[in-house]
Amino acid sequence: MKIGVPIEIKNNENRVGMTPSGVFELTKRNHNVYIQKNAGFNSGFLDDDYIEAGATILDTIEEIYSVADMIVKVKEPIEPEYKLIKADQIVFTYFHFASSEVLTNAMIDSKAICIAYETVEDADGSLPLLIPMSEVAGRMSVQQGAKYLEKPIMGRGILLGGIPGVPPAKVLILGAGVVGLQAARMASGLGASVHILDINMKALRHVSDVMPNNVISEFSSEYNIRKHIVDSDLIIGGVLIKGARAPKLITRDMLKEMRPGTVMVDVAVDQGGCFETTKPTTHQDPTYIIDEVVHYSVANMPGAVPYTSTMGLTNVTLPYVIKLANDGWEKACKNSAALAKGLNIVKGEIVYKEIAEAFDMEMA
Ligand SMILES: NC(=O)c1ccc[n+]([C@@H]2O[C@H](COP(=O)([O-])OP(=O)(O)OC[C@H]3O[C@@H](n4cnc5c(N)ncnc54)[C@H](O)[C@@H]3O)[C@@H](O)[C@H]2O)c1
Repeated sequence: MKIGVPIEIKNNENRVGMTPSGVFELTKRNHNVYIQKNAGFNSGFLDDDYIEAGATILDTIEEIYSVADMIVKVKEPIEPEYKLIKADQIVFTYFHFASSEVLTNAMIDSKAICIAYETVEDADGSLPLLIPMSEVAGRMSVQQGAKYLEKPIMGRGILLGGIPGVPPAKVLILGAGVVGLQAARMASGLGASVHILDINMKALRHVSDVMPNNVISEFSSEYNIRKHIVDSDLIIGGVLIKGARAPKLITRDMLKEMRPGTVMVDVAVDQGGCFETTKPTTHQDPTYIIDEVVHYSVANMPGAVPYTSTMGLTNVTLPYVIKLANDGWEKACKNSAALAKGLNIVKGEIVYKEIAEAFDMEMA
């Protein structure tokens, strides 16, 4: 199969859909891989690395879309790409169709085979192509929190781990899923005193089994949240209710209970945020202050660390890319129930219920 990897043209997206190691695995199986010139540069991969792995470099995005049977990328196509996508071409990427009717209509019109990373689903209901990005965001939330706790950027001026003779900072984590566990691992590793809250007892038992003694698990309730916010230095929001907007666990009136310079990192911002005062921010302007509480709520945290994020993402997408390249989409989806869940729009027809429902459209 001919596989094309374009440069990501969405604002501030520095990741790339395939690493040289992925190219190597595909060319070794006699597939042809075409990489757009400089596509990997911001993730730390040079054109020469791709050439050495067996890829052909093409100058323009038009050439990539024109030659490829399958496009492998990171973010959803944006307007200038719509007209480049061909009928019957496989496009394997994050789409998030339910948040854009324009994109949905454009992909219906293209008659392409749209397979969305975010809906590939394992038998236990987990979403394997989303997990690495939550891992990145969870770990990064502590790094960012530690930075914004510094006094010159309006934080409380406390070192997360303390020093001998001086107590560490207190970190409150809401949600003990992928984001929460990774945040707890980082914060506890730095020596902070960590409290992690969830409503799922299985998740709390897991915390209690695997985390060090400076991580305390507790049931999530308004009472417990109110108790902890008064003396927490860093609060991290990592809750998710699948398919729904995040519950507002910290309301506006609760901010005045906190100490000035407390930092709140809302990783769940992409589902509306779990703090009432959350609004999406960017890497250019990541924070704002309300009632002397510092808010960090960047919606695409992994974009700031493209080297790690690209490798994390392509580690999990590559096995599916290989299946699609070897077998074609029909056979690959027949053989893999997880991949079949990724089919969203096929040759002009919506085949994923939630997308049809989101826009009151017909299902195939
Ligand atoms: N901002 C970013 O760049 C970025 C990157 C990756 C993920 N995310 C987002 O982070 C969020 C968390 O993702 P995840 O992969 O950790 O999800 P997850 O499903 O692994 O974990 C979510 C946890 O929240 C818990 N929860 C639900 N309601 C709760 C409540 N009232 N109190 C406490 N816990 C509660 C659930 O029981 C679950 O354990 C999602 O919204 C995800 O989209 C954002």
